Amino acid sequence: MTSCHNQRDSGIFVLPNLYGYMETLLIDKTHDESRQGEALAPTTSDPLTFTKRFYIESYGCQMNFADSEVVASILNKEGFGATRNLEEADLIFVNTCSIREKAEQTVRKRLTEFKRLKKQNKELLIGVLGCMAERLKAKFLEEERLVDLVVGPDAYRSLPLLVSEATVGQKAVNVLLSREETYADIAPVRLDGNGVSAFVSIMRGCNNMCSFCVVPFTRGRERSRDDQSILNECRELFEQGYREVTLLGQNVDSYYYVPAEADGSASAPVTFALLLEKVARISPLLRVRFSTSHPKDITDEVLYTMQRYDNICKYIHLPLQSGSTRVLQLMNRTYTQEWYKAKVDRIRAILPDCGISADIIAGFCTEQEEDHLDTLAVMDYAKFDFSYMFFYSERPGTLAARRYQDDVLEIVKKRRLQEIVEKQNQLSLQSNQRDLGKIFTVLIEGDSKKNEREWKGRNSQNKVIVFPKSADSALTKGSYVQVRVTECSQATLRGLLVL
Ligand code: SAH
Ligand code: SF4
Ligand code: F3S
Repeated sequence: MTSCHNQRDSGIFVLPNLYGYMETLLIDKTHDESRQGEALAPTTSDPLTFTKRFYIESYGCQMNFADSEVVASILNKEGFGATRNLEEADLIFVNTCSIREKAEQTVRKRLTEFKRLKKQNKELLIGVLGCMAERLKAKFLEEERLVDLVVGPDAYRSLPLLVSEATVGQKAVNVLLSREETYADIAPVRLDGNGVSAFVSIMRGCNNMCSFCVVPFTRGRERSRDDQSILNECRELFEQGYREVTLLGQNVDSYYYVPAEADGSASAPVTFALLLEKVARISPLLRVRFSTSHPKDITDEVLYTMQRYDNICKYIHLPLQSGSTRVLQLMNRTYTQEWYKAKVDRIRAILPDCGISADIIAGFCTEQEEDHLDTLAVMDYAKFDFSYMFFYSERPGTLAARRYQDDVLEIVKKRRLQEIVEKQNQLSLQSNQRDLGKIFTVLIEGDSKKNEREWKGRNSQNKVIVFPKSADSALTKGSYVQVRVTECSQATLRGLLVL
C-alpha cells in the first residue's frame, strides 16, 4: 500500500504536484493522483531474462522518478529485473526526498515496514537512494539499522560495486556529489509509463540558494547534459511511439552546454531556448514541455521560441513562493513582487493563451499578515491556473535554518495555507470556466480513470480533459484530437470530440 492510500483513508486532502510529491492539508477533500511511493516496474519485462529481482519505490520530484529509471537501467545490466512484488525482491530500493520534514517521515515509516521482510529473508538488501541518502549520509546506517546501502543521486554508477559489497555483509555508502555526472550515456528503462509521455533529464543540481531549500545540498552544483544525447533520447522516444517529452531539471532555463568540436575546440553554446527549439524540430507531432523554471531565468528568447512552435506546450510553471517583496528577499529569490508581476505580463503579452501555475509557501520565517495578504494579491493578479501549496518546513543546514527563526506558529501557517488553497480553488474554477465552449487539441493519454468508455488527455496548457470515446476505432492513446469543453469543475474539464 502506498502512503497516498493511507492519507486518503484518513480523509485528508492529498495534493499532488507536478513534481510528483504531495502535501497533506487538513481540509475535507480528496484528490488521488499522487505517485508518491509508487512501486515501479516496466509493464513489459521478460521474466526469463533476469535471475534476480529489485523493487524500487520513488518519492519526491520528477527528477527522482527519472533517476529511478537510470537506476533500473544500471541494475538490468547487472542481471536484476524490476518487480512490483516486494516478496520476490532480492534488493529493495527507496528513492527518497528531503524537501520537507513530512517527506522524510514518510520514508522512515515505510522503512520500518520492511523489517518483516528482512526477517523472512536474511539475504535481502535494502538501499536508500536519493536526497535523504545525500543529506544524512552514513548517519542513516546508524539511525536505520536495517539499511544496507546508502547511495546519493550522483553515485548510481557505483551501484553494482556497492551491491556486491553489501552482499558480502559490508555496509555500503557512496554519497559523493559530482560536478559532471549527468548520466548522459545511460538509456533510462521506462518504468510504468503510459507509453505516450516521458520525462527526459536535461540538467542536474541547482546553483540558486533559495534560503528555505535543501536541494542545492542534496543535488549539488548545476550541470547540463550533452545536447546530442538529449536529442537522441527524444528522437528514440518519438520513434517508439511517444508523443510528449518533458525536459526536466531543477532549473531548466539555466541549461547551458558547450559542445566540443571534433578537434577539441569549443563550438557555439546551446542555451535552453536553442535546446527547446531543437527538440521541437524532431517532429511537429512530438509535444515538448519543461519543468521547472525559476522566474529569473525565463527569458524572452524562451518565450518567443515557445511562440514559434505549436508543439511546444503553452504552459509555464513559475514558482512564486511568496508575494511579499520583503519575504522574497529573505528567501533569496532575487525578484520583487513587481518584477514577478511584470514577468507574468510579459508571458501573457507574448503567449496570450499560456497556462501558468505556481508553487507557494505559507508561513516562512517572519511572515506577517500583510505579507500573506500580498501573496493572495499576487495570486489574484497572476490568475494561476493551478498551484502547489505548502507550509514552510525548516530544513537543517539551509540558509534559513541557520539565519532565521521559524517563528510563525503552526496554527497560523496552516490557516494561511488554507486561505491560499481556497484562493487557488476559486482561481482554478474561474480558469476552467473561461475554457467552456473552447476547442482544444488534446493528446490522448489513455482511458479515464473512472470509466473506460471515456478518454483522458491533456491540452497544451496542461489541463486534463475527459471525453467520451467515439465509434471511431482508429483513435488510440497517442492520438491527437479536437475536443470542445462542455462542462467543468474546479478540478477537471469535460468535453466532446469535434469530428
Ligand atoms: N527547483 C524548483 C523547486 C523544487 S522544490 C524550483 O525552484 O522551482 C519544489 C517546491 O517545494 C518549491 O518551489 C517550494 O515551493 C517548495 N519547498 C521547497 N523547500 C521547502 C520548505 N523548506 N518548506 C516548504 N516548502 C518548500
Ligand atoms: Fe530550491 Fe531555489 Fe534551487 Fe528551486 S531554485 S531547487 S527552490 S534552491
Ligand atoms: Fe525532493 Fe530531492 Fe526532488 S529533495 S523535491 S527529491 S530534488
